[in-house]
Amino acid sequence: GATSGVKVAVIGAGYVGLTTAACLSSLGHRVVCADVDQEKLDALRRGEATIREPGICELVVDGLASGRLDFVLGASAAVAGADIVILCVPTPMGATGAADLTALESVVTEVRDLLPHGCVVVNKSTVPVGTAAHVAHLIDRADVAVVSNPEFLREGFAVHDFLNPDRIVVGSADRDPVPARRVAALYEHLDTAVLVTDSSSAELIKYASNCYLATRLSFVNTVAELCEYLDASIDDVTAGMGYDDRIGKAFLRPGPGWGGSCLPKDTFALLRTAESAGSDFALLRAAIDTNVKQQELVVGKVRKAVGGDLAGVRIGLLGLTFKAGTDDLRDSPSLAIAARLAAEGAELSGYDPSVHAPVPGVTDDVRIAGTAYHAAKGAAAIVLLTEWPEFRDLDWGRIADRLHGRSVIDTRNLLDPLTVARTGLSYQGIGRPGGP
Ligand code: UGA
Repeated sequence: GATSGVKVAVIGAGYVGLTTAACLSSLGHRVVCADVDQEKLDALRRGEATIREPGICELVVDGLASGRLDFVLGASAAVAGADIVILCVPTPMGATGAADLTALESVVTEVRDLLPHGCVVVNKSTVPVGTAAHVAHLIDRADVAVVSNPEFLREGFAVHDFLNPDRIVVGSADRDPVPARRVAALYEHLDTAVLVTDSSSAELIKYASNCYLATRLSFVNTVAELCEYLDASIDDVTAGMGYDDRIGKAFLRPGPGWGGSCLPKDTFALLRTAESAGSDFALLRAAIDTNVKQQELVVGKVRKAVGGDLAGVRIGLLGLTFKAGTDDLRDSPSLAIAARLAAEGAELSGYDPSVHAPVPGVTDDVRIAGTAYHAAKGAAAIVLLTEWPEFRDLDWGRIADRLHGRSVIDTRNLLDPLTVARTGLSYQGIGRPGGP
């Protein structure tokens, strides 16, 4: 695209920051992206992607070649001359379940006196409701507006989601249309709905969306459990529900529970927010509790499959990441379930196509296997935890030969039960007929 007059500073070259910087430069803006990690910046300047995300590398290379994308050390260096400063710093979950704003506050304090006259500061990180107002208060300059512009990027589809958004949400103080329009203009080449609102509503839209998705999955997982008692099929139940446009077909797959870097963090954070506002979000608490129960349900299936006692029993695990298509192990249900199995004395061997070596402090409960067949060797049961499509193409006869026991527990309903059963193994899904 043609180079726009707009100069954008993106603070933070993490997952959201790098995607934002690379995509905005591809839309024709001039982008300077800052980080505090020199090694990461060196890699990016060489055109190497530092996150695993389809399409990101090409955009970084193109951006560098076109001169529209640059990487610099430190926020101060990036904001010089910027029309728009986008904050994409991490907001991890603090000890109380609320988001930890230390990184955000320190960046804001660092740049407040360096911000060009009339620039707009944009909060893109997922931050508690009221943070845009808090940042405006910290900056305390009449010539600088602060707006909230949450992202809705899925891991593994971040570039696609950025360039094909369902909506752009921009929240400004008192719904001031002037800074909101300047931020919305960044996305003017994308064919999508733009919602301008106040900053608290924009911040809440992000949380409410993720919490709704989490609640929906807890609902589905509970219906799946019910299916097992009623000898019904969750595959058919969700397919039937999905025909209703008000429900929709997406995001209805049962599983070992939802995880990742967003849903768990955001559900806890909104629950805390509700609590401190004096409101009891009982439904959200139930969604979180149901998610923990889902892990217990999976452990119960494994325990039962091996005859009731997991002590000293070998279990093979397929998939360690929180979902397929990513190497992200943060808040992975697979690892939470592994920890529970290990606590009961099980010996775990796990294979994941994106995990090639142990990650100290993260995968300690699991011996990392080089292939699915190695993970199956001598195991009493094999448990599929992440929906990597390639698990469908495994030679299940070969798995059967390696296994010591007969049980396959498929927590993603990924496999064809008949294909597995044909090898003499006993198949169990989630909410698939056959009983609990
Ligand atoms: C999620 C949201 O989907 C994004 O819209 C949001 O922008 C992002 O969080 C964020 O806040 O940054 P992501 O964490 O990448 O994206 O993961 P999802 O694809 O939403 O999956 C979340 C969890 O739900 C995973 O553990 C996944 O396995 C599980 N899931 C998802 C199911 O069990 N069943 C489904 O049908 C879909």
